Amino acid sequence: MGKTIIVSNRLPVSLRHKNGKFEFKPSAGGLATGLGSIYKEGENIWIGWPGNDVEDPEQRAEIIIELHELKMAPVFLTREDIEQFYEGFSNETLWPAFHYFTQNINYDEHHWEAYVRVNKMFCDAILKKADPDDTIWVHDYQLLLLPQMLREKLPNATIAFFQHIPFPSYEVVRMLPWRHEILAGMCGADLIGFHTYDDMRHFLSAVGRIMGLSNESGYIQAENRLINVDSFPMGIDYDKFAKSAKSKKTQTIAKKFLELLGDQKLLLSIDRLDYSKGIPKRIKAFDRFLEENPEYHGKVSMIMVVVPSRDKVRSYQRLKEDIDTLVGRINSDYSTLNWVPIHYFYRSFPFEELSAFYAMSDIALVTPLRDGMNLVCKEFVASKVNKKGVLILSEMAGASKELQDAILVNPNNNKGVADAIKQAITMPEKEQQARIVSMQETIQRYDVFQWVKVFMDRLQYVKQKQLDLQSKEVDADVISELHENFKKAKKPILFLDYDGTLVGFKGKPEEASPDEELKSLVSKLTKKSQVVIISGRDKETLGKWFKGQKVDIIAEHGVWLKINGGKDWELYADIDDHWKPDIKSVMEYYVQRTPGAHIEEKHHSLVWHYRKVESGLGDLRMRELFSHLKYMARGHNLQVLEGNKVLEIKRPDINKGRAASAFMKGNEYDFILAIGDDWTDEDTFQAMPENAFSIRVGYSYTKANYNIKSPKEVRYLLNKLT
Ligand code: UDP
Ligand code: G6P
Repeated sequence: MGKTIIVSNRLPVSLRHKNGKFEFKPSAGGLATGLGSIYKEGENIWIGWPGNDVEDPEQRAEIIIELHELKMAPVFLTREDIEQFYEGFSNETLWPAFHYFTQNINYDEHHWEAYVRVNKMFCDAILKKADPDDTIWVHDYQLLLLPQMLREKLPNATIAFFQHIPFPSYEVVRMLPWRHEILAGMCGADLIGFHTYDDMRHFLSAVGRIMGLSNESGYIQAENRLINVDSFPMGIDYDKFAKSAKSKKTQTIAKKFLELLGDQKLLLSIDRLDYSKGIPKRIKAFDRFLEENPEYHGKVSMIMVVVPSRDKVRSYQRLKEDIDTLVGRINSDYSTLNWVPIHYFYRSFPFEELSAFYAMSDIALVTPLRDGMNLVCKEFVASKVNKKGVLILSEMAGASKELQDAILVNPNNNKGVADAIKQAITMPEKEQQARIVSMQETIQRYDVFQWVKVFMDRLQYVKQKQLDLQSKEVDADVISELHENFKKAKKPILFLDYDGTLVGFKGKPEEASPDEELKSLVSKLTKKSQVVIISGRDKETLGKWFKGQKVDIIAEHGVWLKINGGKDWELYADIDDHWKPDIKSVMEYYVQRTPGAHIEEKHHSLVWHYRKVESGLGDLRMRELFSHLKYMARGHNLQVLEGNKVLEIKRPDINKGRAASAFMKGNEYDFILAIGDDWTDEDTFQAMPENAFSIRVGYSYTKANYNIKSPKEVRYLLNKLT
């Protein structure tokens, strides 16, 4: 297993110039803080921009060495790159478009060109570090073209992409002149992840409508590669926040702050400076609350942390001015000598102080107009070690899909948010506790480590699936190889499916009886080889059709067997009751990925319940699990049934693969060929030993080694063998 290369525009540390020198500070923002604990493992490395321009080659060399120690490698951007790629295309075009601020989108061709150029620079930087068995995990909207650029250079590499911001509806995507290139860029990945089901749904719809690529349960078949698209709601390092909130250091800081603030209900507001965060609307809602509830004057105040971000972008500068004005007005309207309604900080805070804010505040007001996920709200909940506190959360944050026990608000509803503040302030402690505990359970279970694990497991699964599906056409070389091997063989065996393999499909099944050509072909084959007709058909029909031929027949997918043209059928199915642990572990995997799902174990069945799962996601996961289970069920002889918000898998059944394996048991065949045309034959293919040849009729994806066009070509091939 190779290393993991994490790639994002911004490294988890940012470079600051100080007195002609430089220093590193932790980067703000969900991506850097969320993945901060992951890249330090093993040989892993994080490649990205160090967050400032450095022109001096000597200084660059020094930075490379320092970052190397920290398991990072820099991609240096020039001032022009920063303006056109970072401030320009990333934050004046993609950011507003993807957050539905379409009126803010800047359509600038030069910015686009810079975006292509810088994505290429990232590609080159990765190629210098990547080994063939590495996993490359690209993050976020600044690098949408990178997966495809990497794919062109490393066709077999394992490449994943995760988008940390929303993916908008097709209606917005289509506005971008570069929509095709952007989607194609993302589709270079094997696995594409989003925070929510809606984001993935929008992406799949855009890929379908703009690129003409359809999908089945999130699997896109692109040229010769299968791509999986799925939702993976990102978590936080829960223990880090919970532990810190309990620590002496944090408690001392909190105590000091509380002494300064006096006896107040504290509202907390923490964001990067960003118009997507809805800060002015939040302030206005607080204003309304104060206006409508004068009895709370002097008793409630808001701590508002705005972390500087993208301050060269015009729309961010305007926002800063708006916030300054609003805060100034409210504070001047309401302040008294011993009370200020809004304590406003335009800067970032070290972790311990942030943690103290979370721990000491009564209410967190997290009301973005749009947010991919939002980690601040999760960090607040994790920090509530005393189980007291209320979260007011915008429905427009990805996190709202998981945190249903928050007071959910529409951030555009001024009265609604003002009322929510009142509801939070007056909420009984018992209710606070019930809500916090329930949210903590979710956040603790689906933490950032679980997120990485589930994502990486899925990536491996997709790669395996891609490998499984690789097969190739039967050509003249394959036919002669088969012929040579068959000729030499002392004890050959052929497993031949009937319908769709030896004969084409007819309107009525009973019309598909063997013609003279087929009869003589089978008869010739039986002179040299053991021939097993392996079919789902009933034993009566097969018995009649092959009467007098020296063939073995496995009928009804393995229920019945007749040897060497004999008279009698024997029952060929046995009951296997050891399937439960295997199936349960698969179901459990789907429970881990699906907040709200659970398993019920009955005597003869396992049931996966999803009534409490986010609607849409529940259906998606059910369909996914359904096909997963159906696939496994065939191996185990089980039956999968869809019920009302449940999926049930029940008692043993029969399949061709098991029958074929049982048939070969104890025999040493030196030539094995299996041919079939549908999913029931996939079991046969799967059961074949490594030295067997297997061929699927038609060009579906298959476990067989080869594909062949039609029954006509099958007969041609079998004729060649004889
Ligand atoms: N944060 C920080 N320093 C601060 C304030 C916040 O590092 O002074 C962190 C905060 O802990 C959170 C992240 O910034 O992990 C913000 O992530 P979120 O997903 O809420 O919003 P984003 O900035 O990614 O849009
Ligand atoms: C969001 C984005 C990240 C970005 C972060 C900070 O979390 O999803 O990709 O790094 O904001 O923004 P910045 O422009 O400072 O990197």
